[in-house]
Amino acid sequence: MNIIAPLSPSRPRVDDALRALIANRVPGHSLDAPFYLSQQVFDLDMEAIFARHWIHVAVEPDIPEPGDYITVDVGRHSVVIVRDDDQQIRAFHNVCRHRGSRLCQEQQGSVGNLVCPYHQWTYTLDGKLAYAEHMGAGFDKRAHGLKPVHVQSLAGLLFICLADTPPTDFARLRDEVEPYLLPHHLNDCKIAAQIDIIEEGNWKLTMENNRECYHCAANHPELTISLFEYGFGYQPSAANAQQLADFDALSQRLESEWQADGLPSSELDCLDERITGYRVRRLPLDRAGESETLDGRVASRKLLGNFQRADLGGLSFWTQPNAWFHFMSDHIVTFSVLPIAPEKTLVRTTWLVHKDAREHEDYDVENLTAVWRATNSQDRALVEMSQQGVRNPAYQPGPYSPYAEGLVEKFCNWYVGRLTAYCLE
Ligand code: FES
Ligand code: FE
Repeated sequence: MNIIAPLSPSRPRVDDALRALIANRVPGHSLDAPFYLSQQVFDLDMEAIFARHWIHVAVEPDIPEPGDYITVDVGRHSVVIVRDDDQQIRAFHNVCRHRGSRLCQEQQGSVGNLVCPYHQWTYTLDGKLAYAEHMGAGFDKRAHGLKPVHVQSLAGLLFICLADTPPTDFARLRDEVEPYLLPHHLNDCKIAAQIDIIEEGNWKLTMENNRECYHCAANHPELTISLFEYGFGYQPSAANAQQLADFDALSQRLESEWQADGLPSSELDCLDERITGYRVRRLPLDRAGESETLDGRVASRKLLGNFQRADLGGLSFWTQPNAWFHFMSDHIVTFSVLPIAPEKTLVRTTWLVHKDAREHEDYDVENLTAVWRATNSQDRALVEMSQQGVRNPAYQPGPYSPYAEGLVEKFCNWYVGRLTAYCLE
């Protein structure tokens, strides 16, 4: 009789209770409480979702020069992403091949080589072990290079995948989405601001909150200056019929102008149909129609790419499981969600402007970041209220709005589908 469970460093325990929880999810409703609270579900999320899918963690301008690196923590993994001497972006497990010390201790830096602080094993930027003292004549340096992690740049957005064999449909996403993103020339941008916030809530509450604008009118006074909440689904009624008709007319007019300018704008949505689920759409903005700012005008006078006009609305791009992006004519905002614990989540927001834009002359960081600083703080409060609610024994899953929460349902469908696939393996 086998009385000692086999030791597995990564495969989480999936018992009958957990299988039943996943199988019994009621479509069209929020998830059962354990999905937001349980350590066992969290461990499964980190393995089945975050260790197996393409996870957005950074942008190329995080590491603009050879030797620049950043480290990111994804569950128990730490990954170092570095630009090598040939400008190639590489990612490695941040673990020394000697006795396993964490290699890079800092969140970011710039180096000639990657040197382990413990016994100074020294790796070149392409991960080869170049130097290891006192290891004897028979020691094979070639067998002790850093372990690579898959990394892809999508028009400058960096995604990593910790699986040995990553989902292959990223190539299809690239073919479909790069035409939307490339005109904004993210790789000619610099980071104007980057802010990390910690939300005391489960990562899925952060994502669900992002996937609807049902809450926007009541909670986001700054964001709704420029953002039409109708763009994210609203139930038609006599009271809003004119507004919805005006919005549709504006969308159609601008979309045909943008398409004529060579900017793909119409919606592509495969959020719950693919392993690498995504949605992309360029939507009009209110007021001046230029940018997500407090007056709807550009925050940076130096437009991105080769843009000749500022009123390009907002190109929204969402990826499963952990990111969303807003591309405008003058700046780009990226959001990366990384779970820390069942009830703790990191949200990293990065604002990018043209690399030649001059602070105080072309843009002002306060103004550039005002809308999303306020909105993030409001969303954090909403996520934390939700977390408090799902902790209450009286919580039971409630129904999604068929008009305004369709993308939340797609997020949950995708998530439950991916867990189910993992459990069937
Ligand atoms: Fe890195 Fe020894 S653990 S050099
Ligand atoms: Fe919000």
